[in-house]
Amino acid sequence: MDSTKPLLLTDLVSGSKHVPSNYIRPEHDRPNLDEVEHYSLDGNSSSIPLIDLQRLHGPNHSDIINHIGHACQNYGFFRVKNHGIQEAVIDNMLRVAKEFFYLPESERLRSYSDDPFKTTRLSTSFNTRTEAVSSWRDYLRLHCNPLEDYVDEWPANPASFREEAAEYCRNVRGLARRLLAAISESLGLESDYVDRALGQHGQHMAINYYPPCPQPELTYGLPGHADPNVITVLLQDDVAGLQVRRNGKWVAVDPIPYTFIVNIGDQIQVLSNDRYKSVLHRAVVNSDKERISIPTFYCPSYDAIIGPAQKLIDEDEPAHYRSFTYGEYYEKFWNRGLQTQTCLDMFKTHIP
Ligand code: OGA
Ligand code: NI
Repeated sequence: MDSTKPLLLTDLVSGSKHVPSNYIRPEHDRPNLDEVEHYSLDGNSSSIPLIDLQRLHGPNHSDIINHIGHACQNYGFFRVKNHGIQEAVIDNMLRVAKEFFYLPESERLRSYSDDPFKTTRLSTSFNTRTEAVSSWRDYLRLHCNPLEDYVDEWPANPASFREEAAEYCRNVRGLARRLLAAISESLGLESDYVDRALGQHGQHMAINYYPPCPQPELTYGLPGHADPNVITVLLQDDVAGLQVRRNGKWVAVDPIPYTFIVNIGDQIQVLSNDRYKSVLHRAVVNSDKERISIPTFYCPSYDAIIGPAQKLIDEDEPAHYRSFTYGEYYEKFWNRGLQTQTCLDMFKTHIP
């Protein structure tokens, strides 16, 4: 390896006017930003449903469960407000995330690794070992459950990183569990069904840092992909970039402060026997501003056995997937690279 070439995108491109050639997508695989659908955020229309979680407790409980079920079935994505996570917890998380990426290169590189199975690592793009074209992103990835097993591996700089990120993780874990109970109920299953299916729950967090890009029409922050986990709870800063696939088009999901974006991952698609969809999404970049997004990937433990829920299998809807361990799934996901063809196809049964 050329030891003078920076490992991270941030250090490679600061101030450059052109996208390096290994970031340029072939013409048929570019973002076509002019064709993306945008919705105003005036409250009358939105790209994905907005769900008020406060109403989950009270007389409207079953309406909200139905609303969540509808969103999972028709969008694979929704936004939540009144989710119970204090604004200060969110502000502090975004602040330490930014401070981390502003550290000098040598300090950041203490966490660097290109091994996707390392439990704490700073890396770039998606999987530099397997991909042909790189993505316009650096990211810090942290395992977060059980917290005490991992927190000592996390960056110690900035000084409050561990404390603030741990507080954020505890909060998001609570939210994810409430969402999983609601999703179970919306499928007509016991509210603890998904919880039990996950074995010892896994929780990973990525802190994505997308530097400004001189030619955003040529590359992606992250190309179209479906998430391999159970559900993802995404926090984004105030810079737009997330887009979701819907009815054959890419739709922008612009930031609304202090809301979270929730999406169904591949494992819920399997557990629900395809009732709920793990939908393609991507992140695009822009020439003006850096962007930070912080997805929490809620997952089964690696030894949990995942398959369609018995209650959702019958003569009309036989099992669409074979059973597998999440470890097997996860390994396939990382080794094949981000592709719009989802990893789920490798686990499908062949229904005549
Ligand atoms: C992801 C992801 C979207 C974003 O990290 O899996 O989809 O907006 N991120 O950064
Ligand atoms: Ni994703």
